[in-house]
Amino acid sequence: MELHIVILAAGQGTRMKSRRPKVLQDLAGRPLLAHVLDTAAALDPARIHVVYGHGGDQVRAAFAERPVSWVEQAEQKGTGHAVDVAMPQIPDGATVLVLYGDVPLIGASTLRELLQAAAQGLAILTVELDDPSGYGRILRDPEGAVRGIVEQKDASAEQLAIREANTGILAAPAAQLRGWLEGLDNDNAQGEYYLTDCVAASVAQGRAVAAAQAADEDEILGVNDRLQLAGLERIYQRRQASALLREGLGLADPARLDIRGRLRHGRDCHIDVNVVIEGEVVLGDGVRVGPNCVLRDVVIGDDSRIEAFSHLDGATLAGDCQVGPYARLRPGTELAARAKVGNFVETKKAQVGEGSKINHLSYVGDAVLGADVNVGAGTITCNYDGANKHLTQIDDGAFIGSNSALVAPVHIGAQATIAAGSTVTRDAPAEALTVARSRQKSISGWRRPTKSKG
Ligand code: UD1
Ligand code: CA
Repeated sequence: MELHIVILAAGQGTRMKSRRPKVLQDLAGRPLLAHVLDTAAALDPARIHVVYGHGGDQVRAAFAERPVSWVEQAEQKGTGHAVDVAMPQIPDGATVLVLYGDVPLIGASTLRELLQAAAQGLAILTVELDDPSGYGRILRDPEGAVRGIVEQKDASAEQLAIREANTGILAAPAAQLRGWLEGLDNDNAQGEYYLTDCVAASVAQGRAVAAAQAADEDEILGVNDRLQLAGLERIYQRRQASALLREGLGLADPARLDIRGRLRHGRDCHIDVNVVIEGEVVLGDGVRVGPNCVLRDVVIGDDSRIEAFSHLDGATLAGDCQVGPYARLRPGTELAARAKVGNFVETKKAQVGEGSKINHLSYVGDAVLGADVNVGAGTITCNYDGANKHLTQIDDGAFIGSNSALVAPVHIGAQATIAAGSTVTRDAPAEALTVARSRQKSISGWRRPTKSKG
């Protein structure tokens, strides 16, 4: 049977106190809705329908490249109404699964179980909670059969004591669901068309309602405010850290790693505390990352070391490299094997050859360095003339004295030596010493000025 997934995302999310619609708030660096869409896609549905309302243009724009049908619910008249607006696009023979844009941790395996239970009729996903306040409660008859769902605001004191809660997630054959939705009224405490009333409607037709239980109560947590969002972020991060530890990644503290993207790693890697991973990060074997580093879209080769407080973005490192502490590698940085970039060095679009060193306090941008180059402290590639960027090329074995300015475009030949403090504006030949600064002189007998009297 073909599966159609309806994701409800029309709510305003007032309690977030944000200009951004709730489903665009980030969890682990990606919008809440992205997590739900990925889980939905894992079920291989015929179609995913997203019901949007408040901030709809922003939501649609954020997911423009996804194969989703967008359904507008101009006025939020309740969850039953929200599903109903998507129904015209869903054929009778389909199975419908209802998910929520603000319930991001729901897992595909729980949903597969729910879908199995929905083969004959309505199946709801419930959860046993110590504190079910705020949730709809599941009403069962003495034999244990599901009879209905009562919302918190409509519940009696006795019903409020029920701990089995409605997660909101359900699945049903489309033709049946269509019938129940058409029959809904809004005669309740909130004046809304409740999706949950489909349960009583099914029971009234003599059709049993199946209930599947969520394995893990974290899966069904929703986000209404920033406190809950922060709580989910910790759960999510903890799960990722646990999975990585199980895979054999060494972590100084699983509670102090944040992955906002994807981390792949070889054997015997170790990550110290307070490291942030963004985008796609790949570590080879034996890579060590010191505390307080940010790694975004980087590939790091075997046995390389990243020391504390380094920021690497869009960089590729071969094996046995050393970076930091306090280094900043910007996009287009490529370090060959055994290259070293030390403290307070910034690189951008820079190829650094095998065994080359930029150990302290330098800016190297738009540059190609050969092997075994030594860049002294305080070297700057002056790559920008105010309008265009230019290349600095430094060939194998060159030695750049401290506090040199290399005014690009400029080429330093192999084994060349640049005297400290030079401002190099023309190409420097191979092997030679190039001095581009005024010569030191001493004036003997010179007197310091003295204060003039009155
Ligand atoms: C709903 C359930 C409740 C369940 C709880 C779980 C109903 C009537 N109640 O209550 O049994 O325990 O979820 O969290 O379904 N939405 C729309 N359009 C609307 C109304 C809601 O898209 O017109 C979306 C919201 O953006 C939200 C979701 O549906 O993501 C749930 O709506 P909400 O009003 O928060 O329902 P609850 O009162 O939490
Ligand atoms: Ca809610």
